[in-house]
Amino acid sequence: MNQLPLAELLLTDLAPRETAGQAPRHRLVYESIRRAILSHHLPVGAKLPSTRDLARDLGLSRNTVLTAFEQLLAEGYVKAQTGSGTFVADTFPDTQDAVASEHRALPDPGSAAAAPAGQARARLSKRGNRLTHIAAGSRFEIQPFAPGDADFSIFPFKLWQRLQNKYWRDAVPELLDYGSAGGYLPLRRAVADYLRVSRSVRVSTDQVLITAGTQQSLSLAAQLLADAGDLAWVEDPCYWGARRVFEACDLLLRPVPVDAEGMNPQADDLPTEPRLIYLTPSHQYPKSVVMSLSRRRLLLDLAARKAAWILEDDYDSEYRYAGRPLSSLQGLDTRDRVVYLGTFSKVLYPGIKIGYMVLPPALVEPFKSALYDLQRPGQMMLQAALADFIEQGYFATHIRKMRLLYGERRELLRKTLAPILGSAATISSEESGLHLAILLPPDCDDVALAGRAADEGLSVRALSSYYLGTSRERGLVVGYAYVATEKIAYYGRLLGNVVKAGLSG
Ligand SMILES: Cc1ncc(COP(=O)(O)O)c(C=O)c1O
Repeated sequence: MNQLPLAELLLTDLAPRETAGQAPRHRLVYESIRRAILSHHLPVGAKLPSTRDLARDLGLSRNTVLTAFEQLLAEGYVKAQTGSGTFVADTFPDTQDAVASEHRALPDPGSAAAAPAGQARARLSKRGNRLTHIAAGSRFEIQPFAPGDADFSIFPFKLWQRLQNKYWRDAVPELLDYGSAGGYLPLRRAVADYLRVSRSVRVSTDQVLITAGTQQSLSLAAQLLADAGDLAWVEDPCYWGARRVFEACDLLLRPVPVDAEGMNPQADDLPTEPRLIYLTPSHQYPKSVVMSLSRRRLLLDLAARKAAWILEDDYDSEYRYAGRPLSSLQGLDTRDRVVYLGTFSKVLYPGIKIGYMVLPPALVEPFKSALYDLQRPGQMMLQAALADFIEQGYFATHIRKMRLLYGERRELLRKTLAPILGSAATISSEESGLHLAILLPPDCDDVALAGRAADEGLSVRALSSYYLGTSRERGLVVGYAYVATEKIAYYGRLLGNVVKAGLSG
C-alpha cells in the first residue's frame, strides 16, 4: 500500500475523534491504525509508511506516531523488520485481547464520553453526578511516568503460580468460601509480624483486617466512622482516590494545606470538628514530603482532643532509599485514634486487590462484621498463597530488589531532568516512594503541560489538579517506577524538553 491512502484514511478517521478531545493523539493514531487492521483496510503483510512520513502527512510530531507504533508492536498488530520497515502482522491478538485493550481506554468520567454519541445520558443520583464530575486519575495508567505504578513486570510470576497451585491442587472447601474472619489467619499474622518490625506499628494479629485494597479500607472506614454531612480533613493537595470515597459517603471535605512538614492546620481549621483526618505521613501524595515528628504529635493530639479518627494511608512506605526507615504515625499513637491502612498494590501488582487495616481494638469487631455484610470478602486461595509468599521470605526479597531498582531509576530521572530544567523548576528531594514532584512557577499552566506530555506518550499529572482549595501549587507528578531503567534517560529528556519548552513558550 502506498503512503497516502493510509494517511488519508487516518485523517478522516481521526478528525471527529480529535475534536471530541477524549484521548492523547498517539492513542488516537494507535486506535485508528488498529481499526484499519481489524477491518482489513490494512491487509496482512501491508507495509506501513515510515513514522517520519506518516507524522508529516498527519501534521503530528514524530514521537506521537512512534508511540502509537510501539503500542501496535507490543500488542502484536504489526511487526518490524530491521532495514525494511513495519508490516501488518499475520497473527491478530485474539478477540479477548482486543476487548481488553479497548477497555484500557476508559472514558473520562466527567466527559460526554460517559454517554456515547446518540445515546441519552443515564439519570444518576445527585451523588452519582457529583462523583462522576470530580477530576479522576489518569485514563491510561500503563505509560511512562504514570504516578503510583509499581513495575509489576518484574514480579516473580512463576513462583507466584507455584504457591497458588499448591492450594488449587487441594482446593480445601474453607478456602473456596467467603471469608468471615477478617481475612485468612496466617496472612493476618504475617502482616502483623511484618508491620511490627518494618513499620513500628503496634499491632496484634487480632487487629489486622484483610480488605480488597486501600480503596475498600477507606470506604469501610468512612462508612463506619462518619455520617453524611460530617467533616473530613484532607491534605491539600490530596490523593483523588480518598477524596472520591469521602464524597461517595457524603462527607464534607475540608482541605488543610500541606507544607514542607506535612498537613499544617491553620487558625481557621482549628475550631472545626472533623470526624476523620486523612493523612499520608510517610510520603505525602502527591507532594512527596515526609511528615515531621512535631507535626505528627500535633495531629495525634488534635485527633485525641476532637475525638477524630486519623486514617493513615501508608501506601508506598516500603520504598525508602536513604536513611533509616521511618516509623508509622500509628506507632506513636497511645490513645487509639489511628486506623492504619496498607496495600500490596505497590509491592506486588495493583490487580491483586489485597490490602489491610490495623484497627484500634474497639473497632475490630464492628469492622469485621461490616466487612462481611457489605463486601462478602473472598479470595482466600490468593490470601493463602500471599501468606506463604511473606512467610517464606519472598516478600522481603522482592521489596529489597525493587527498592534498589526504583532508587536507581529515581536517581537517573533526577539527574536527567535537573540540567534540562535548571532553576526554573524544583524537583522533590525526599528519598522515598514511587513518584517525585516537579514544582513549577506559579504562573505556569501545569494542566496544559501535562497535556503536552501526554501527546508525547508520557502520563504525568498536573499537581494543581490534586488541590481542593483555592491556593494551588503548579507542578507535575511523575512516577518513575514503571519505566525500564535503560529508558529513563530517553523519556526523562523527552519530559524535560516538554517542560522547558512549555515554560519558555
Ligand atoms: C495515596 C494512595 N493510597 C492508596 C493507593 C492504593 O490503593 P489500592 O490498595 O486500592 O490499590 C494508591 C494507589 O495509587 C495511592 O496513590
